[in-house]
This record gives sequence, structure tokens and C-alpha cells, in this order.
Amino acid sequence: TNGVFRPEMRRVPTGELLKPNRKTNGVGVQAEDTKICVVMVGLPARGKSLIAQKVVRYLHWLSIPAKTFNVGQYRRTATPNPSAEFFDTSNPEGERLRKAAAEAAVNDMVKWFSEGQGLIAILDATNSTKSRRRWIQDRCQAEGIETLFVESKCDDEDLIMSNIKEVKTTSPDYVGQDPEAAAQDFRNRIRNYEKVYQTIDEDEYDLTYVKLINVGKRVVINQIQDYLQSRVVYYLMNLHIKPRSIWLSRHGESQYNLSGKIGGDADLSERGEAYARALPGLVKQSAGEGRKLTVWTSTLRRTIQTARFLEFEKLEWKALDELDSGVCDGLTYAEIESAYPEDFRQRDEDKYNYRYLGGESYRDVVIRLEPIIMELERSENILIVTHQAILRCIYAYFMNVEQERSPWMEVPLHTLIKLTPKAYSTQEERLKADIPAVSTFREKGSSAKHQEGDAA
Ligand code: ADP
Ligand code: F6P
Ligand code: PEP
Repeated sequence: TNGVFRPEMRRVPTGELLKPNRKTNGVGVQAEDTKICVVMVGLPARGKSLIAQKVVRYLHWLSIPAKTFNVGQYRRTATPNPSAEFFDTSNPEGERLRKAAAEAAVNDMVKWFSEGQGLIAILDATNSTKSRRRWIQDRCQAEGIETLFVESKCDDEDLIMSNIKEVKTTSPDYVGQDPEAAAQDFRNRIRNYEKVYQTIDEDEYDLTYVKLINVGKRVVINQIQDYLQSRVVYYLMNLHIKPRSIWLSRHGESQYNLSGKIGGDADLSERGEAYARALPGLVKQSAGEGRKLTVWTSTLRRTIQTARFLEFEKLEWKALDELDSGVCDGLTYAEIESAYPEDFRQRDEDKYNYRYLGGESYRDVVIRLEPIIMELERSENILIVTHQAILRCIYAYFMNVEQERSPWMEVPLHTLIKLTPKAYSTQEERLKADIPAVSTFREKGSSAKHQEGDAA
């Protein structure tokens, strides 16, 4: 292996901007010249693009530079609307164009790595023959790029059919075509691939690979080499595609919110109490009658009090406690501005990376939330009652919000957010309780004056 990943041991001082670079990328690991190509393998409609897109979103959230190279997109420049016959291997023109598309994608990937910032590329294509995989392996090896083959294998015909209906009939390949005819053609496309498809097997023992069989019911792992590869594999093992939703709510308005103080472990205000009492009704309205879900709170009083009327199984997570504001805990923004003017300014300048003296940055919070995200991927319906900064980070993961913007998102009190993962995106609905609350939101660069008792 050409890349070395090892746990970051460096002690970092507090109260400063900690910008990531290739060596300190915020996941608590050091990368030295690591380049990994995740090579997707499998018949069409096996979730390869979806997996690729999720891995990239997860890695971006962790500040790991990653990019997908989709061979279908390259093929589309020359052949935008192929019919099933294009994918018949006895069609020499089709074969030539498809190989050219794969070469163009691999060339761009190599170029992307050579530009220096990339850590993980995903080559999203069927790569369904041994010879194609060997060619990719050799190309990557020559360029000093590690490979991790990820095969998705699935023989559940009903699932494949519903995948086709869900994502393939609306593919740009079939623009303007009747969905029924598109689905039929796509099935024929798959038949053509099946004629030559070779699953990864024993005589590819030297390859680093993971085989996900029937959406992770069975997983086969071979030759995983280093830390980052094993992280990706662990993530893949936790994915499922059962329909479900995730609800997010901040705690009800607290005594500290009323006085504009940050941090602490205050009780709910009267209006916060009213929100706690209203929450079961709000959840029922959003989730429907009889929906089974699990409630996660932080270990702080205000989230536990907010969740206490919900008649579901509950779990307290230390990792869901609010961003630790260190020496500023218990102060108002105005007090911080006068006691630590330079820090106050620095935080506004780069809120994601600013770490409070003796406390945390948003970047730190993301690292401690990683197990929460992993557990969320494994779980079904979950309601999380947590805090402003924590909610922003979790929301940013699901909605793919870029780092600079995520700490500045408005997440009002007394509002239930419902996130529903769909094939290539996450659907969002917001339900506001009719209970006023202060706004704890302070715009970038705005005066730190606390607004007493104004409605959210
Ligand atoms: P491909 O890239 O393999 O052609 P897509 O990613 O476009 O397939 O297919 C997306 C669909 O596959 C979605 O409906 C999704 O629910 C489903 N899916 C996701 N993961 C898997 C999996 N591991 N096995 C089978 N289907 C999956
Ligand atoms: O004011 C409520 C609160 O949850 C504080 O406890 C916390 O420090 C703050 O919000 C986080 O928001 P921001 O990062 O915008 O200061
Ligand atoms: C495609 O052309 O849509 C495609 C994914 O090609 P390949 O089978 O070469 O991966």
C-alpha cells in the first residue's frame, strides 16, 4: 500500500482556527499520499450510483475530499439515448464506445488525483467482467492509486423491478419516453449485461474487495488494507434501504434561551414546557397513528424534559450534548463579544473551524457525531431531540449542506423537522408548533445584542 493512515496524536491548542489540510483532515487521522479508487461492480439497478453518492456525501461531511466518476455520464456525451442493443456485447460499435467512456472516466480520475487534493474517487460503472476489473486495477496500480472494489449483488427480482421504476425510467437515457417502454428496455439492457457478468470470485483473491449481497444480508470482505478503506467498508455494511424517516427537534425553549445565555444545563421555560406537552401530538401528526419509533435525546435536562411525554423507547446520548462553548459557557453573545472580542470576531469569520477556548468547534462536533450517523444509517424511525449546533450538523449530513453554510442555518425552536431518505435525495418537511419562543439565531457579523422575549 502506498498510503499511510494513522490515528492523529497531535495535541491541538484551543481557541483557534483549525483549518483542515491533507494531513489533518478532521477525521482524527493523518493521510499521507493516500489515493483510493472505489470501483463499483454489479449489474444495472443494483444501487451502485446510490451507494456511490452516499459514500461521497458521508466523506464530504467528514472533510475527506471525494468525487464520483460516472461512466454512464461519459457514455452519454456520445450516445445519449441508447436502446438495450447498444449494451449487447456482440455489438462492436457499442463495445467500442463503452470502452472509450470508461477510459475517459479513468483518465479524468487520474488527473483529479494528480491535481493533489483528492483522497477517494468512486468509479461508478458496472465493471462487470474480470478483464475490465483487471484493466482498472492495472491502471490504478501504475498511478499509485489503491483500489477497493465494491460489488452489489442482488437477485431479488421484485426489488430490481421496483428500482427500475423508481430511478431508471426517469434517467436521462429515457428522456421523453413512455415509462413502461423504458422499464421494458432497461430490463433488456440488464439481460445483455447478464450474458457476460462475472461476479468477483476466488481467482481475484489479490483484489481488495467487499461484496454486498442482497443489500448487506451477506457481506464478503477481502484484503482490506488500511484505516480509510475499513471505514468505507464499515459504512457500507450499515446501509439499508427500508423506508423510514428521521425526525429532528430542538429542545423546548429553555431558561437560558430566554436570557440569551449559551450552553449550560437549564430547565425548560414555561413555553418550553408547553412545547414538550405538544410534541406527542406533533409527532403523531407527522408520523401518523401507531408508527413505531425510538427517541434519542442528549444527556442534558432540556432535551430529556422535552421528550418526557413521548410514549416511545428512549435513549440518552452524550454525543448529542450541545457544542461545548468552553470558557464562554453560560455567557450571552454580548458578554462574549466584550470579554473575548478577538475570539468573537474569529468565530464569525470561520464558524465551522473556530474552537472555543476549552471547548469545541463545529468540526469537533462532526467527529463526535460520526457514531450517531452510523447508528442512524443502521436504524429505522428515529426522533432526535437535541440542540441547535448538533441539529445543524446532523441536518447537514442528510441534506448535503456545505461546511461554510451549515453553522449558519436557521433551525427555529418549537419546530419538528421530518427527513425521509429517497433514492438520490432526502425529502424534508417542517411542522411548526403554535407556541412562540425566542430566536437564538444570530446572523453572521450582526451585533450581539440579545432580543428579549421576541417570538421565533
Ligand atoms: P445502479 O447504479 O446499480 O444502476 P442505482 O443506484 O441507480 O443503481 O439504483 C438505485 C435504486 O437501487 C434505489 O431504488 C435503491 O433503493 C436501490 N438500492 C440501493 N442499494 C441497493 C442494493 N445494495 N441492492 C439493490 N438495490 C439497491
Ligand atoms: O443558544 C442556544 C445554543 O444551543 C447554545 O447553547 C449554543 O452555544 C448555541 O446555540 C450554538 O449556536 P451557535 O453555534 O450559532 O452559537
Ligand atoms: C453506461 O453506459 O451506462 C454504463 C454504466 O456503462 P458500463 O456498463 O461500461 O459501466
